[in-house]
Amino acid sequence: MQTHHQTSQSLNALLAPFTKQFQNGLLRQGTSSVPLLTTMSQYYMLQPSKRLRPCLILLMCQATNGLGSDWETKSTSLWVGCSAETDALENILPEQLSLAQVFEILHVASLLHDDVIDNAETRRGSPSVPALFGNRRAILAGDFLLGRAMRLVGTLGSPEVMSLVAEVFCTLVEGELLQAGYTDLSLGSAVVDPVHLPRVAQDPAEDEIITSLWQEYLQKTYMKTASLFAKAMECAVILGGATAEDPLREAASSFGACLGMAFQIVDDLLDFEGDPKKLGKPANADMRLGLVTAPVFFALQEDESIRPRVLRCFEGPGDVEATADCVRNTQALSRTRKLAESYAMKAREALNIVPDSAAKEALLKVTFAILARQA
Ligand code: FPP
Ligand code: MG
Repeated sequence: MQTHHQTSQSLNALLAPFTKQFQNGLLRQGTSSVPLLTTMSQYYMLQPSKRLRPCLILLMCQATNGLGSDWETKSTSLWVGCSAETDALENILPEQLSLAQVFEILHVASLLHDDVIDNAETRRGSPSVPALFGNRRAILAGDFLLGRAMRLVGTLGSPEVMSLVAEVFCTLVEGELLQAGYTDLSLGSAVVDPVHLPRVAQDPAEDEIITSLWQEYLQKTYMKTASLFAKAMECAVILGGATAEDPLREAASSFGACLGMAFQIVDDLLDFEGDPKKLGKPANADMRLGLVTAPVFFALQEDESIRPRVLRCFEGPGDVEATADCVRNTQALSRTRKLAESYAMKAREALNIVPDSAAKEALLKVTFAILARQA
């Protein structure tokens, strides 16, 4: 298997024709006549980042353009990224490049709000926007970027894409509220497509509370992270002419949903085993926010002693440290990794109907790279 570093290098090579255009357009969207708003809106855009969402969108476009039933009508607009050296990889429509920007803007907006909600002092190793400029300003910057994302999505010529992007806004907020414990499980079944719900081996010894917490965790994971990946992939193929009947739609959406689940579960794993310096945030940040994630659920299956700590959301003295010890001393971390791996595998399976190409190969590599990531 390739190392994480090699994978990001080959991804960079595939996306090289688009990166400059992508980043310039992104920064333009983060520009306001109010200088402070520009500074805050562009702050996370200017930090080094994996740019995972736009990468996936562009790769999905390259891997599937030409396959949708309605491709002929879509492909009349000019292609971007054309250059003699990259000829096999020029296959992206201008609307699809904008779509990648829409999703990155939406992601940045959600981070601005998330850092207020989570009281985050740092992000990616630097002070967070709310830490530097205050909560009120950070919220306004997030709102501003949501407006910019809406403005841009309105230029793509697809009411269906507009409505899917709007749905992502809503689902992110619902997921965030579910995480904060403000909602109950009755919200669930209507919101999460059962196709995308993971199959987790349920231990018969688990009682109802823990089972429902597990379900709530998976549901929340889909809503706050995986739904954005699912809809981003679906919008990418819609802009490439995939109609509602094309199996490509479900394949793209399922790829995104499963990859998004794997991505977030690895995020939750890194909260326990990651290096705070590389992560740019403190260790066990989730537990400190009272959040119960997969490693804790698995630890609980092996060691009942942490149950009271879990049920009181780690609010007692020493709860965070004792639970972290328990997670390390059980199979919890390896079982969490296996859960993420099973999602990554499902993501790869979803791509079975896509013909082989360099872009498909790169999408498959991403499913491995997100498992190997350390930040
Ligand atoms: C990061 O999670 C946050 C998200 C994946 C979503 C946040 C969504 C909102 C705040 C709802 C508002 C939405 C919009 C559209 C403005 P994390 O806290 O687990 O990860 P982190 O360690 O990167 O902060
Ligand atoms: Mg956060």
